[in-house]
Amino acid sequence: MSTFREDGAAALEWVASYLEGVRERPVLARVEPGAIRAALPSSPPDDPEPFAAVLEDLDAVLLPGTTHWQSPRFFAYFATTGSEPSVLAELLIAGLNQVGILWRTSPALQELEELTLDWLAQLLGLPAGLHGHIEDTASTSTLVALAAARHARPGRRVVLCSEHAHSSVEKAARLLELELRKVPVDEAFRLRAELLELDEACAVVATIGTTSSTSVDPVPAIADRCAEAGAWLHVDAAYAGAAAVCPELRDRFAGWERADSVVVNPHKWLGVTMDCSTLWTRRPDVFRDAFSLVPEYLRAAEEVASLSEYTQVLGRRFRALKLWAVLRCLGRSGLQERIREHVRLARLFEGWVREEPGWEVVAPRPFSVVCFRREGSDEENERLLERVNASGEVFLSHTRLGGRYVLRLAVGSFRTTEDDVRLAWDVLRREAAHA
Ligand SMILES: Cc1ncc(COP(=O)(O)O)c(C=O)c1O
Repeated sequence: MSTFREDGAAALEWVASYLEGVRERPVLARVEPGAIRAALPSSPPDDPEPFAAVLEDLDAVLLPGTTHWQSPRFFAYFATTGSEPSVLAELLIAGLNQVGILWRTSPALQELEELTLDWLAQLLGLPAGLHGHIEDTASTSTLVALAAARHARPGRRVVLCSEHAHSSVEKAARLLELELRKVPVDEAFRLRAELLELDEACAVVATIGTTSSTSVDPVPAIADRCAEAGAWLHVDAAYAGAAAVCPELRDRFAGWERADSVVVNPHKWLGVTMDCSTLWTRRPDVFRDAFSLVPEYLRAAEEVASLSEYTQVLGRRFRALKLWAVLRCLGRSGLQERIREHVRLARLFEGWVREEPGWEVVAPRPFSVVCFRREGSDEENERLLERVNASGEVFLSHTRLGGRYVLRLAVGSFRTTEDDVRLAWDVLRREAAHA
């Protein structure tokens, strides 16, 4: 046991030092494909090794092959944060190693999951009385929501979403053998509700915060159309949902309270370590009908529906513990402060781009992601991004909007300061000047 304590102290020290120094590391991994495998033995050890050997190889071999998502200078995709309370809770989760298959296999897991989902719904201004549970990722949340939608409307095989919806919608439709129809967007990359043809539709997926531009689909109009047609409305707010913690940003969420199901990823913008996706529904009866399958060996005397009856997987991790830890250790005010700061930093960056000749902002910015480009060809912008990322100082990613190659700066790390955003802008201008 003492080795466990010593190893544990060393592991915690490792994480603390890593987080303290991560700002200085090259953000994007600088290794060639295959390099990490080649640096490690191709067969497992015959005899036990000390835990210290794992830490040594973590430093020597794995860290150079790590892209630092915890870096305050990570501005790619949707920047995330594994906050300290969540990191510590992961240790407790692993120590307890709960397997939530039935209420009795972990009453604390199930009841804390239900409670934290109620708490989070309150923080985000969602209606009272929704049924919530946690999935690993939004891809799974959307898959099970669309399975419920298919179950609710047997015979209807069409799902609609905007051409900017996340690829997980298409993947879910493929797995569920539903036909996906993509609806064109307007000039601000929002689904054009008047183009929805719902005769054969079992569901519409509306996105609040699309992956490319963070555009917001017109959910009230889509909800009206779904209500008329009897189609299920699933709202994908995987990234942006966290912003609803700020009352001044709630206008972007108009209509989501009418959804049959809503997904938000606390592992994206709420400080929870990967993975934690929260899914609420106002139709738990449909989920249970679609998914409940309790074999004899899992029958129990108590009359409590287990969370596995609302989804595809049986066993669940104690993810609620890390969400609970974050909600407690940051509180409503701590979460609001961080989201507001990210929106402020994104606005600041957007202003710099707008004011600088030769640069343009190419999409509205409802949250903390700025889509922009340098004047010139797509290839020039692509090469610019490659040089910026090769510098190691910051990491940004790209997308394509209206057929054009576009750079994206996503602010989302709790560790990012104004100086980090300023650095990103300096690096971009420096590399653009050297073209
Ligand atoms: C809007 C949206 N929905 C869904 C997803 C998929 O999320 P996950 O990786 O949790 O499956 C993403 C990922 O970025 C996203 O941006």
